[in-house]
Amino acid sequence: MHSGRGLGYALIDMVRAEADAEAGLSLITRGPGATRDLGRRIGERLRAGSVIALVGELGCGKTCFAKGLCAGLGIPQREVNSPTFAFVNEYRGRFLVLHLDLYRLDDVSAGLEVGILDYLTRAEKGAAIIEWADRVLPLLPDDRLVVEFDVLSPRKRRLRLLARGRRFTRVLRELESE
Ligand SMILES: Nc1ncnc2c1ncn2[C@@H]1O[C@H](COP(=O)(O)OP(=O)(O)OP(=O)(O)O)[C@@H](O)[C@H]1O
Ligand SMILES: [Mg+2]
Repeated sequence: MHSGRGLGYALIDMVRAEADAEAGLSLITRGPGATRDLGRRIGERLRAGSVIALVGELGCGKTCFAKGLCAGLGIPQREVNSPTFAFVNEYRGRFLVLHLDLYRLDDVSAGLEVGILDYLTRAEKGAAIIEWADRVLPLLPDDRLVVEFDVLSPRKRRLRLLARGRRFTRVLRELESE
């Protein structure tokens, strides 16, 4: 087994145990359209300086959700693709969006080597959407939105939105009251 994979799962459990999320919302989507739509509704509400951490197994819907976020940020859908091989894609919508896929990173020190902190600094003027964010969770800013995905069936996913910081707790409250 890939060592990063093992670490990833251990850290996912840590995320789940994270007691200091200030607000949480658990939703079930039935099909990729619903996951994209949820992402779009959140993307429409994002302000510059947002970090969105996506956590979950292969094929759970992270890229699908990222496409929705980007749609809400005014980025044409054809531009948004999984950066698995490029590792980071850059888009311009309402502001700069860095879309990272850290699947190939083993751990935090590998994250430091590829310059995660520099990307996060650049994203302070825009947004960072990070797939496989469990790889570098300790490097992320305190204020963040973590989205944990569970595959419930071929078309059903549970998304748990965990907000830390005022900006994201407000976004979750708005979603809830829609
Ligand atoms: N409710 C759902 N939400 C999201 N995707 C779904 C859902 N139901 C089925 N799917 C399918 O699951 C797949 C999700 O793929 P996606 O590339 O978004 O996953 P991922 O988490 O980014 O994978 P990877 O770990 O390889 O980056 C797509 O083929 C999509 O059609
Ligand atoms: Mg993906």
